[in-house]
Amino acid sequence: MHTMTQYEMKQAVARAARDFVAAHLPAGAILGVGTGSTANCFIDEIAVLKNHLGGTVASSEATRQRLEGHGIRVLDLNDVEHIGIYVDGADEIDGSLCMIKGGGGALTREKIVAAVADTFVCICDTSKRVATLGHFPLPVEVIPMAHAYVARQLGQLGGVPKLREGFITDNGNLILDVHGLHIDQPTALESRIDGITGVVSNGLFARRGADVLLLATSSTVEVMKR
Ligand code: A5P
Repeated sequence: MHTMTQYEMKQAVARAARDFVAAHLPAGAILGVGTGSTANCFIDEIAVLKNHLGGTVASSEATRQRLEGHGIRVLDLNDVEHIGIYVDGADEIDGSLCMIKGGGGALTREKIVAAVADTFVCICDTSKRVATLGHFPLPVEVIPMAHAYVARQLGQLGGVPKLREGFITDNGNLILDVHGLHIDQPTALESRIDGITGVVSNGLFARRGADVLLLATSSTVEVMKR
């Protein structure tokens, strides 16, 4: 039996997500599209669905450009009332389908599009699956003038924040990557970090986790539901 490489796993899960969208998203409905290398594989797969879709909403400028490069219609979120399905990758996902996202720095727009969507479909390979979140540094988007204050507050929560050098988000803000967190209560920590003045949003997707996980293994794509 052929054992898939990580890139082949991303392509396999992208095809599974395309089939999920074709089966579950009514014709003319709006699709939310995530950011990252797995999401990019998904974008390349859904060019064939462009006449089925009412349009898409992009979670980043990079995703918008890739969608438009395939001739797929991209709508402004403020012109959309309803998103049927949101498809995105993750940096880590646990057994309750809570995630850490934002390795690519798009966490805030991802969280906003996910909030509007009825169904969040997470696509990833087994390297992202964890028992407890926190090995991957937790990204926190901050207003630039507040980054030192927010870093001190995050330090008090037991993490070691590092400013992501040379990086500015699509919203014109900075990212602190918080190392060394052992996150056994993701929902509570998500709210606690959001409560720090100067934080725009954080990469814990626990209050609104995934509804469906399509998980590529070296031989197949498994489906898990919350
Ligand atoms: C982007 O900001 C992230 O939330 C991505 O969803 C995450 O980094 C996954 O990216 P890969 O598919 O490239 O691992």
